[in-house]
Amino acid sequence: MDITPEQTEIGKDNFHEAVGFTRRDVLKTAAVGGVGLGALYFNYEKLNGSPVRTAFIGCGDEANVLITEHPADFMEIVAVADPRPANIDRTFKGSHPEVRIGLNKKLGQAKASEIKVYPDHLELLKDKDALGLEMVVIAVPLSQHAPIALACLEAGLHVLTEKLMAHNVTECKQMIRKAEQKGLLLAVGHQRHYSVLYDNANDLIQKGLLGDIKFIRAQWHRNNSFPGSDSWKKWDRGAEAKKDKEHLLGLEKSGRLKELGYDSARQLVDWRLYNKTGGGLMAELGSHQMDASSIFLGKVHPLAVQGYGGRNFYGVKGVGPKENWDDDRDIADHIYVTFEFPGRHFSEDQDDVAIVTYSSINTNRQEFYGETVFGSRGTLIMKEEKEALLYKEQSASSGGGLEQRLWVLDSSGGGGPVLDSYNTSAPSAAGAMTKGAMGDKVSRGYREEMEHFCFCIRNGRSWKDLRCNGRVAMADAIMALTANLAMKHKKRIVFKDEWFDADNDAVPETDEQITA
Ligand SMILES: NC(=O)c1ccc[n+]([C@@H]2O[C@H](COP(=O)([O-])OP(=O)(O)OC[C@H]3O[C@@H](n4cnc5c(N)ncnc54)[C@H](O)[C@@H]3O)[C@@H](O)[C@H]2O)c1
Repeated sequence: MDITPEQTEIGKDNFHEAVGFTRRDVLKTAAVGGVGLGALYFNYEKLNGSPVRTAFIGCGDEANVLITEHPADFMEIVAVADPRPANIDRTFKGSHPEVRIGLNKKLGQAKASEIKVYPDHLELLKDKDALGLEMVVIAVPLSQHAPIALACLEAGLHVLTEKLMAHNVTECKQMIRKAEQKGLLLAVGHQRHYSVLYDNANDLIQKGLLGDIKFIRAQWHRNNSFPGSDSWKKWDRGAEAKKDKEHLLGLEKSGRLKELGYDSARQLVDWRLYNKTGGGLMAELGSHQMDASSIFLGKVHPLAVQGYGGRNFYGVKGVGPKENWDDDRDIADHIYVTFEFPGRHFSEDQDDVAIVTYSSINTNRQEFYGETVFGSRGTLIMKEEKEALLYKEQSASSGGGLEQRLWVLDSSGGGGPVLDSYNTSAPSAAGAMTKGAMGDKVSRGYREEMEHFCFCIRNGRSWKDLRCNGRVAMADAIMALTANLAMKHKKRIVFKDEWFDADNDAVPETDEQITA
């Protein structure tokens, strides 16, 4: 969407103004209480007891982000495990001044040096009692989420695993059942569940400020067409992978990589490109945004999905006109899917359907990533997990559009709050209060997700208290994995209730509707 810098500022102020109305009380408490907004919003307190003894399994890109954000007063990292020496090295030394600062800087050299290092999860688990381990954070390639989570649950450890929950829905159900059988907590790192920004946005939507929502457009567009720019293809390009190459080839030769679930060293490093280890653009990127979209639509399950995905850009050497791109990936590089969701009155009127379109492409990043919610009374634009812009729909009687500031009125008819607009160049006091409470640096939710997980462990909370518990995360996995099936089989697939039921064995990957 074409929005000028001035209109962007108005959109941000409008969002703060509306949140100042819907979240007035909690924002005032935050202002006087000195408590983080996350704790207030997501219902937890400082930990009563010692920090939860934690091991990180997988020390790659994402684990290093989580390690940087980890709340040391809730979580004590006692061990890390990874077969890649260069990734272990940067876990201590850091590789980015803000996003991946490393354990030495985060905890101090002395404390960091007490953390034990293991070459993989199997060796780590042998030492779990000596380490006094209570929980693990799993940040490994998708295909290994379930095997490692099941092994850790079996060993009596609480599990916070990265998204997508698992490589297929059968595995999701196994994980949920195992956690329940063992009485352990299992959560998945779809961080938007713990983002204050997203929670505020959702609050506006659920209070009806955007009116009736019939359409959400979500996208994650990147441009990897410049040589060497594909961050998913590291074996030949990434500096860390180069350092690890010899070691990993040794593990490949010894058969250890096979035991860990990988056919080759290259597959371990470039895992996102292959169906055996990854789940493509839908699992890696789209799952986040379908998660957000389904929350905005009232945490409902979708009705149906269809789409197109193809290798439209990367080519195989010597085949067709793309000989410059010698690339053996399995996954599509451009995907476009359409989900049908039930609208608010779907049970009375089956035509009341809301549509979410999702696209992820590799050849243009003009619109990078985000979700735009088109409501009958307003438009909400979520940008890169950092910004939210709100605009009132234009009407003859009360103005609106990209140029006008808005405020919120209690409707005289008692139908709940509504947006109104006015011509001024300055934000209001309510907007300024919200902006102050939110702070300049927007947390993406990682810290809050880890704080709440540790809080739930220490306070004996149930899995139901976790905002992205196994059942919630399984619904996200079902959306992403079924979209993949729709693209693969070129079919419109109707979702079945039993797929979302952890106690029912029915799963999309073996459903006759799809495979026949
Ligand atoms: N929540 C988010 O926004 C977000 C963002 C990026 C990645 N992720 C997820 O995080 C996970 C990891 O992604 P990444 O980008 O860090 O990948 P990565 O390839 O950079 O790191 C994965 C690491 O896991 C290690 N590993 C593999 N098998 C292991 C085992 N058996 N024991 C110990 N370590 C093992 C690898 O050696 C590697 O260092 C993926 O599931 C991905 O989808 C989430």
